[in-house]
Amino acid sequence: MPKVVFVLSDGTQTGVDARAGDSVMVTATQQGVDGIVGECGGNTSCATCHVWVRAEFVPLVGDVTDSEEDLLDLAVSERRAGSRLSCQIVMTWELDGLTVEVPPEQP
Ligand code: FES
Repeated sequence: MPKVVFVLSDGTQTGVDARAGDSVMVTATQQGVDGIVGECGGNTSCATCHVWVRAEFVPLVGDVTDSEEDLLDLAVSERRAGSRLSCQIVMTWELDGLTVEVPPEQP
């Protein structure tokens, strides 16, 4: 299974197995990763799944859609270059080792 590494706001790193085809948000919530809520279930309407994707993975995680772009603009307190909604990142084997930072708080 491809792995996702979550870096929590206290610096703790948690590596979890992901099913290919699941989103990073689903992977996190199913495995109890702190700081990723996923309140809207992946419908691009809550931004409680915000993460900062590490720079080396940004080109691999796909493009930001218009609706994701709007939500990142409006709802995320600290938007960075790697800001993404983790519900919009679908795990594949190409993303094995994907490393994302979890913000200290979600909207
Ligand atoms: Fe709501 Fe991602 S889970 S926007």
